[in-house]
Amino acid sequence: MRKKVTVVGAGNVGASCALRIANKELADVVLVDIMEGVPQGKALDLLESGPIEGYDVSVTGANDYTTTENSDVVVITAGFPRKPGMTRDDLLMANFEIVKAATEGVVKYSPNAIIVVVTNPLDAMCYTAHVVSKFPKNRVIGMAGVLDTARYRTFIAEELNVSMENVTAMVLGGHGDTMVPLVRLTSVSGIPITELIPQDRIDAIVKRTREGGAEIVKYLKTGSAFYAPSAATVEMVESILKDKKKVLPCAALLEGEYGINGLFVGVPCKLGASGIEKIYELQLSEAETAELNRSAAAVQELVDVLKSKGA
Ligand code: NAI
Ligand code: 2OP
Repeated sequence: MRKKVTVVGAGNVGASCALRIANKELADVVLVDIMEGVPQGKALDLLESGPIEGYDVSVTGANDYTTTENSDVVVITAGFPRKPGMTRDDLLMANFEIVKAATEGVVKYSPNAIIVVVTNPLDAMCYTAHVVSKFPKNRVIGMAGVLDTARYRTFIAEELNVSMENVTAMVLGGHGDTMVPLVRLTSVSGIPITELIPQDRIDAIVKRTREGGAEIVKYLKTGSAFYAPSAATVEMVESILKDKKKVLPCAALLEGEYGINGLFVGVPCKLGASGIEKIYELQLSEAETAELNRSAAAVQELVDVLKSKGA
């Protein structure tokens, strides 16, 4: 039997996720959105690409959750994207209500699904999905680190004019300006980048990575990035559906790891059929630990706002 993935939110990220899942023939896809006709229209358009692309998965659209029943994975992209000048945090309360409603719909029909959260502010929306779903922590995962790391790898590959595939890296922490690209562990086919790139250029790349989302928003003006975000999301979905056990930076609920408790923060995770199958606890330097703590504090601030509003 084919796997089933529900994508909530048929906007830029959601529709791109559906397209990539279909193209890779990973699963049947159900697109859900509150906009009447939009998920249905996009789903039909995607389905009609099947004969050309050569995929046989079904793609359907809906405005409610009935047809999402028994999904293996649910990707939540529903919510407002950032506009120019807006921080991810500005989105907090508006997207809280949306992610809450989406999670309730998902849980009702797919109590055993694995939820991959994409909506911003990412780490606080993971917290929301976790609290509302009451799912065990291995089944609520946030997408951000794969995207942030892809941006970081892109900039390093461009700097050195080498293949992007050869750049190995990991960006940890919350999905915000405080994210933590681990320079010490970044290499090009095993060669540390500190031996290849002068420090001032590394600093510039780290800064550009931290501001990677805003760089795209500035160009687009009416929305935020969706090609790389959907590619990142589908890499996670594929690792789960195929039980590939890829080690990827994901937002995971930490319960003491890295000295952090009760917060979703980006850390290296093994993703397989059960969702998060292992959290890797790296030995961080003092400076890296301080940066991660600063990033976790930024996530805590948002979660505190949610809690103060009774969320
Ligand atoms: P978009 O505006 O293109 O699509 C959002 C869709 O959500 C719209 O079609 C809207 O009708 C739908 N929606 C709103 N309320 C809903 C509800 N209650 N139920 C179902 N659908 C609902 O936005 P885009 O670009 O797709 O971004 C979606 C979210 O993903 C934003 O919050 C954005 O900030 C976030 N994002 C996160 C990234 C990450 O790294 N975690 C990367 C890129 C985007
Ligand atoms: C990004 O980093 C908007 O969070 C989104 O592109």
